[in-house]
Amino acid sequence: MSSSCLSCVLLVMASSLAQIPPRDSLPRSCRCLALDCPCSHSGLSSVPSVPAQTRTLDLDYNQITEIQRQDLGSLWELRVLTIHGKYNTNTHKYTESSWFSPGLVLVWSWFSPGLNHILSFFSFFSFSVCVRCLGSRPLFQSLVRLRVLSFGGDSLEDVRVSDLRGVGRLERLRVDANGLKRYDSGALAQIWPLDHVTLSLRSPFALNQTLASALLHDVSDPQTHLTLENLNLSSNRSVLPLREAAQRRVRHISFHNVFVTDATTVKLLEVTDGAPITSISLSNSTLSGVGSWEKARWTDHMSLDEVFVKDIVLLNNFEFTAFLSLSFLLQFPRKISLINTKVFVTPCLNLEFFDLSENLLTDMTLTETLCAGAGVLKGLRVLNISANAIKSLSLISRMVTRLTKLTHLDISRNSLTFMPQSCPWPQSLRFLNMSRTKFTSATSCLPPTLQVLDLSYNDLERLLVVLPALRELHLSGNKLLTLPPGWLFPNLQTLTVQMNTLNVFTHSDLVSFPRLQNFQAGLNKFSCSCDFVPFFQSLSDGEINITLTDGIHNYFCDSPLHLQGAPLSLVRRSFSECRHVLLVSICCGLVLVFLTCLGVVLWKVHAFWYLEMIFVWLRAKQKRRKRERKRREDGDTEDRPLVTFDAFVSYSERDSAWVDNYLLPELEQTGLCLHRRDFLPGRWIMDNIVIAIESSRRTLFVLSHNFVRSDWCKYELDFTHFQCLEGNCREDAAILVLLEPLHHDDVPKRFCRLRRLLTSTTYLQWPQDPDLRGQFWTSLRQALSPDQDQD
Ligand SMILES: *[C@@H]1O[C@H](CO)[C@@H](O)[C@H](O)[C@H]1NC(C)=O
Ligand SMILES: *[C@@H]1O[C@H](CO)[C@@H](O)[C@H](O)[C@H]1NC(C)=O
Ligand SMILES: *[C@@H]1O[C@H](CO)[C@@H](O)[C@H](O)[C@H]1NC(C)=O
Ligand SMILES: *[C@@H]1O[C@H](CO)[C@@H](O)[C@H](O)[C@H]1NC(C)=O
Ligand SMILES: *[C@@H]1O[C@H](CO)[C@@H](O)[C@H](O)[C@H]1NC(C)=O
Ligand SMILES: *[C@@H]1O[C@H](CO)[C@@H](O)[C@H](O)[C@H]1NC(C)=O
Ligand SMILES: *[C@@H]1O[C@H](CO)[C@@H](O)[C@H](O)[C@H]1NC(C)=O
Repeated sequence: MSSSCLSCVLLVMASSLAQIPPRDSLPRSCRCLALDCPCSHSGLSSVPSVPAQTRTLDLDYNQITEIQRQDLGSLWELRVLTIHGKYNTNTHKYTESSWFSPGLVLVWSWFSPGLNHILSFFSFFSFSVCVRCLGSRPLFQSLVRLRVLSFGGDSLEDVRVSDLRGVGRLERLRVDANGLKRYDSGALAQIWPLDHVTLSLRSPFALNQTLASALLHDVSDPQTHLTLENLNLSSNRSVLPLREAAQRRVRHISFHNVFVTDATTVKLLEVTDGAPITSISLSNSTLSGVGSWEKARWTDHMSLDEVFVKDIVLLNNFEFTAFLSLSFLLQFPRKISLINTKVFVTPCLNLEFFDLSENLLTDMTLTETLCAGAGVLKGLRVLNISANAIKSLSLISRMVTRLTKLTHLDISRNSLTFMPQSCPWPQSLRFLNMSRTKFTSATSCLPPTLQVLDLSYNDLERLLVVLPALRELHLSGNKLLTLPPGWLFPNLQTLTVQMNTLNVFTHSDLVSFPRLQNFQAGLNKFSCSCDFVPFFQSLSDGEINITLTDGIHNYFCDSPLHLQGAPLSLVRRSFSECRHVLLVSICCGLVLVFLTCLGVVLWKVHAFWYLEMIFVWLRAKQKRRKRERKRREDGDTEDRPLVTFDAFVSYSERDSAWVDNYLLPELEQTGLCLHRRDFLPGRWIMDNIVIAIESSRRTLFVLSHNFVRSDWCKYELDFTHFQCLEGNCREDAAILVLLEPLHHDDVPKRFCRLRRLLTSTTYLQWPQDPDLRGQFWTSLRQALSPDQDQD
């Protein structure tokens, strides 16, 4: 055997060697984060080159077939090396290797995926595991500081007394020996003290109970927690090795992944009769039977204090009534957990800790289980009925109200739905878990003595209940739009409101909780407003004495749209986004001021007057064109407008007395056009003016200060001017009569036409002296006379 072991020098799992790709065909590097090099699943075929200061190197699941001295020899800082899987490492290369620095932890998980096997202070490596035995010489002699050891595998058949020589002070030992065929008594007995021993011994228990007994004899100890895995206890004999453990006074024993029947359960209770076992645990196991364990009623299990049963498959679930007939066994423990074992009812038990989570309790069977609320369970401190089929909260409260020591109550994951207005509770209640119970509202049914309340994952929209003693409140996964008011919870230290519909929370919201220290509000739909973003960032910078215990990376913006999904801690709102209204009003103000100034300036330079003039003139011109076109269509070939008046008299209304009293009587024979007399009523005055000017040979301007002040007169003057610009006018189209001395400086500057006329054109001055007026009229008549036209 020994020589076969020698020849089999491969380290571990020779059977699982994969096909080996050519060396260096794959990249020899992986990406390191600071001093950690997570190089697992990287398809490496050899140890990659990593920085010399690397502290942890994970080489799990690669195609590395060989580790050589130079591969890791320079990594003096390496502390944790994780390798798992297919190694074909030549032992020689390791034998002289002293290159692992002191303090190196080798995380070594060849035997069982998921469990890390830690060999601490790995200063020397001469370990070889072959197919059937541990090796030819003591492997662990130099591993003086080894604390955690796990070895074995499907192929391990032989454990010799010499194999573990040198291993002194293990804390945890795990042996996978499902196929063990030979065991030297005492091989594991040298190891002491062991806190935890886990043995997977399928075939020894089934086939060679002598061998299994020997093994249990060596590891069992009152201080040691013994775990047995992967057993098929279907025959009476397979239970016998446990007698050995019982005789060695094991106190803590766990079974994991075990198959038992009614008969072997009875047998087990018999072989452990009177043993000082205080805690027993059974998990992930199958029970074939109906629970008729009555035959073991005579056995003594008085020392049993704690029973933990979890994830049990009952092959005959509906016939299984055992829990009611098991009182003989269950009357002793103070702590019982029956988790996910399809329990629908239990006998009335006096316990301190009762965990019945993930079972089939209903309102009816809960009454039976809790002794109809009669207060029999006087000592009960913790009750867990999470994830059952209970519907009535008032029933629960009635059942527990007389349990005067009850501090913890977990009723989460039941479909309770409705919370009554008030409920009786024991005064001692401190912890209440009502998570995932489908409540839509919370009332003063909540006990005021609570210190921890979990109402997460309900459908609450608000919580308005005074809870003066509350220190921890969990409200994640509800529909809260705002934080509850802080004055309701004067002692609250921890508040979680993740995954609600909060948009913002403010400084005053938070400081309304006088004692708040830990706050979690991530994964809400935050509105990243200009107020909230800086406040949040000041919070995460620690300006307020409240810690965001869920980490700032869980906070994201939901609105505005362009920031959706952005991490709140990185968002920056610019001044222009934030001071929108201010900016717009400033702009409007500026524009208004500018327009006002412009208006003032334009008004000063009479721009409006000019514009108005141009507009009126353009309009008049257009109308004239229309008229001419019409006339031509009517067959009139005459180009010029019909002249019907000798002169259009343009005068200010205030000078009408002069016109009426002097001008008209004197020039009766001359065809004069007077606005008062000849303007067509109803026609736009501008048109009237334009037509009058066009249909008169000349325009007679009666100039006076009144004239200068009159707007209409100015128009008239300027039309004449425009007409001249167009070339339709005669040199002497305008005749000026000055009623009173008028210096051209008296005329406003914009009437440049008039000013020029005043300087250039000869004008007739109305003499104040009546004797001179004859001359005046003569001159005027002459100027107006149509003969002038022929000149
Ligand atoms: C059972 O194991 C013991 C101890 O290793 C060995 O001596 C014995 O031969 C085994 N019995 C059988 C039937 O294999
Ligand atoms: C355990 O062994 C019995 C017979 O020895 C067999 O019928 C049963 O299927 C086995 N159970 C398991 C879980 O392997
Ligand atoms: C196991 O033992 C019980 C009595 O303790 C007996 O009734 C039963 O027949 C036995 N089963 C086997 C398979 O030997
Ligand atoms: C639980 O038991 C089943 C067989 O009953 C097994 O396949 C599975 O691996 C076990 N799970 C654990 C976590 O041991
Ligand atoms: C109740 O049981 C559930 C599920 O097993 C567990 O998550 C919870 O922590 C338990 N509560 C208490 C108070 O032990
Ligand atoms: C309340 O129960 C739920 C589900 O059983 C669990 O996840 C949660 O951790 C519990 N809350 C507290 C505060 O223990
Ligand atoms: C912050 O809270 C801690 C813990 O309650 C307290 O010791 C510390 O004085 C507080 N600091 C400030 C600045 O309030």
